[in-house]
Amino acid sequence: MDTSRIAIDWAAARESNRANWEDRVPLHEEAYGIEQLDDPRHVTAVVCTDLAALAPILPGGTVSGLDVCHLQCHIGTDSLSLARAGARVTGVDFSPAALQSAARLADRLGIDATWVESDVLESRAAVAGDFDLVYTSIGTINWLPDLDRWASQVAALLRDGGLFYIRDGHPALYSIDEHAEGLQLRYPYFGDGEAQLWDDATTYAGDGRVDHQRTYQWAHPLSEIINSLIGAGLQILRVDEGTSLPWKFSPRMVQVPGGFAWPIAERDLVPCTFTVIARKP
Ligand SMILES: C[S@@+](CC[C@H](N)C(=O)[O-])C[C@H]1O[C@@H](n2cnc3c(N)ncnc32)[C@H](O)[C@@H]1O
Repeated sequence: MDTSRIAIDWAAARESNRANWEDRVPLHEEAYGIEQLDDPRHVTAVVCTDLAALAPILPGGTVSGLDVCHLQCHIGTDSLSLARAGARVTGVDFSPAALQSAARLADRLGIDATWVESDVLESRAAVAGDFDLVYTSIGTINWLPDLDRWASQVAALLRDGGLFYIRDGHPALYSIDEHAEGLQLRYPYFGDGEAQLWDDATTYAGDGRVDHQRTYQWAHPLSEIINSLIGAGLQILRVDEGTSLPWKFSPRMVQVPGGFAWPIAERDLVPCTFTVIARKP
């Protein structure tokens, strides 16, 4: 894999990314282990982690009874896990194939949910109603060029007093060469607005290959992420950093409870995830 930074029109980049995500859907339906959700008690590991992080801040400690908007919901495994925890869930994604897959899964499991096809950067106009919690996690804002616009959509989707939650790959992790033999910096930590161009037939789950290999992604330092939310009028309640993540970022990572981490001798050298919880006043 090689990457370079280029100036690209968002509409063209978005179409290229969408084609890539459409191709991933059947591969992820195979690789995500969605049959685990046939057990009515099953909730994904991602949502288990996120609900535990949210519990001390949520009124009553639970999403039960809340209206939740899940941005970039993909094939719905996390959305339906939130619904299993008692939330009324609206999942938003720009991939029709992902939403069809999510709807099929919801039907099979007998879970009510609403699915909305939209670019997340235009989601306020596409989604009906407002929400107690806007949720997004694991593989999200690296696909977006403009975090100020993203944060303004989040703020506009929230009711007064509502919470926003994000957990995702840490930008410091994304600057590391995933194939190097040790921890070695390769990619820019700071964004300059230009896209990183990737040509990659693989995906993070399973061994399948996609036809549409070209994607455009954007680096966002932690300061930009937090400042975009502050700029949209949200109050930051909590910021955390974690040492493991749910996907194998590098072949050198080892399995740990709930995901993958660097070998023990390197584990405290660099964060793997960040979490931000914010409130609309
Ligand atoms: C890595 S998945 C995140 C989902 C979740 N962590 C999971 O594993 O199910 C990224 C999702 O973002 C969606 N996506 C990427 N760019 C988007 C955009 N501009 N608007 C809406 N959805 C987008 C993709 O279709 C994909 O479903």
